[in-house]
Order: sequence, then structure tokens, then C-alpha cells
Amino acid sequence: MTSGAAIEDAARSIRAGRLVAFPTETVYGLGADAADDRAVAAVFEAKGRPRFNPLIVHVAGRGEAEALAVFDDRARRLADRFWPGPLTLVLPRAPASPVSWLASAGLDTLALRWPAHPLAEALIRAAGRPLVGPSANRSGRLSPTTAAHAAAELGQSAAMVLDGGPCRFGLESTVVALGDGLPILLRPGALDADAIEAETGPLAEPAPSAGDEPRPSPGMLLRHYAPDSPLRMGAEAARPGEAMLGFGAVDGDLNLSPSADLAEAAANLFAMLRRLDGRGGIAVAPIPERGLGRAINDRLRRAARG
Ligand code: TXA
Ligand code: MG
Repeated sequence: MTSGAAIEDAARSIRAGRLVAFPTETVYGLGADAADDRAVAAVFEAKGRPRFNPLIVHVAGRGEAEALAVFDDRARRLADRFWPGPLTLVLPRAPASPVSWLASAGLDTLALRWPAHPLAEALIRAAGRPLVGPSANRSGRLSPTTAAHAAAELGQSAAMVLDGGPCRFGLESTVVALGDGLPILLRPGALDADAIEAETGPLAEPAPSAGDEPRPSPGMLLRHYAPDSPLRMGAEAARPGEAMLGFGAVDGDLNLSPSADLAEAAANLFAMLRRLDGRGGIAVAPIPERGLGRAINDRLRRAARG
């Protein structure tokens, strides 16, 4: 089990931009400072996901959550009823939210949850930061429900694995999006949807997904981030009217990573696309198709298709 000194160590690691696996009541998460682009990129790299999916941001308090996202009455009611606990709320990002754009994969919504586990809460409070925390497994494998499983999956990438014993639920949190219209059940999970409907009335369910593609969106909530300007990949130079997003030696108005470091490029990707958006077009330098480059190219391809 885990001592106060271990929590302090883990919190220092988080503040230094490192990764810490931590227990929650659902499954073990791979934690990192949600406001640190490089740390969030390291989470994607450790999990080996072929694409950037938006991550849940873990907080320890509704007040803290309200600094990150915009709560309406319905969101407040759900948070008061079910937090701390296995409910994740997808809400509009607050204008001054410090959360990394990579954490939300460029979307202007954020998924937030306050986990009901003393070690998770202690870690978030000691770090003084909101934490991203996808399940602490490599992509395509089962979510770990013990510290030993988490260590076997991702012990190499994490500075520490906090041991909180076996997880109470062993199943991920229920994800509900609140926007205009009915709340949408994006992911069934540990909190029974009936309990949520008792508070909100009927939930809408998105159409079933094919394979591991994200579910198609009813409305805007699940759209992938796409710039307004047309995007061109594999560009060696900008054409007239285009803004250039460079990589390595192929320079531009902005450069994802002058040293051609894919983790740095991932960390900068969404924030830089947003900065260059709104011009005639965005030309993006070639990105190698390896490691995090695969996830970067996946996002660029989707954005290029519009
Ligand atoms: O139980 C859990 O939720 C675990 C523990 C560790 O807390 N965490 C977890 O995190 O499962 P993660 O980041 O893997 O969950 C991401 C889920 C995905 O279904 C993702 O599509 C959805 O949350 N999600 C995150 N941000 C979103 C957003 N802005 N809009 C829509 N869905 C979002
Ligand atoms: Mg998972």
C-alpha cells in the first residue's frame, strides 16, 4: 500500500512532467499533468495508440472542475449527485482553461471526472494539477485493475505506480456529454445509466460504432477537431495564401519541432493548428510515419479530408 511520502514523491514526478500510474475506483490510470503538453504527449507515446483520442481530465473538487469547463445547472446537479464517483462529464471548455489542447485532441470540449479513491484524490491535491488518466495499459490491451497489472503494462514508462489495491468497479467510468439538447451517453460504464436518467431525464445514445472508430456524433460533440482552413500534408513549402507548419529542417510560420522530435511535435500539434487556422490554408511539412508520427499523421489526414 502507499504512504504519504510516496504520494509526495508521485506529486513531484507529476509536477516535473513525468507519468505516474494511480488507482481509481474504476481502473488504474496513467496520470500526467493535464496542462503540460509534453507530459500528455508522453502518455500517448507510452500507450502506443495509433491515434489521439481525447483524454479524461481528473480533478478533486467541483470548484477545480469549474475552472476548466463551463458548468450549467444540469452539469452541477450531476456533479453534486455523483462526484466523487465513476461519472465523466463532457462539457464546453472554459475560455481560460489551462488544459493542453492535445489532452482534448483539439476539441473545444473537455471530459472531466472526480474519482472516488483516496489515493487518486491525494495525488491530484498534492500535485496541485488536474491529471489526464487514460487506463494504464498499452493500446488494445485490457485495463489494469491492480497495481501489479499496471506495472506490468506501463511500469517502464511511469516514474511510479501507486498501489491502492484492487479497483472496486474494474470497469471504466460512464461518459455523458452535456451540450444543447438531451445529454448523450458516450460510453456506458461503472455508473448505471438509469441512475443518471433519474436526474436528467432520458439520455440520447449515439449510433453504434464500427470497430474502434469513435462513434459518429449526434451534433457536434464527438466531431474530430478540424481546422476551418483547408489542410495540405507532405508540403515542402507554402503556396501563396497558405500558412506553413514546419517540422525539422522544413521550416514554416511555426515549426512543430525544429529538432524533428515527434513527442515535441505531438505536444504542439493542436495548439499550432489553431494558431494558423483562419488563413487561406495550412500546409504541413512531411511527418515520419513512426511512433507518435503515426498518430499525428492520422489526425492530419482526417483534417485534410475536412
Ligand atoms: O474510469 C475511467 O474513466 C478511467 C479511469 C482511470 O479514470 N479513465 C479512462 O480515461 O477511461 P480515458 O481518457 O481513456 O477515457 C477517454 C474516454 C473516451 O471514451 C473518449 O472518447 C472520451 O472519454 N472523451 C474524452 N474527452 C472527450 C471529449 N472532449 N468529447 C467526447 N468524448 C471524450
Ligand atoms: Mg482504456
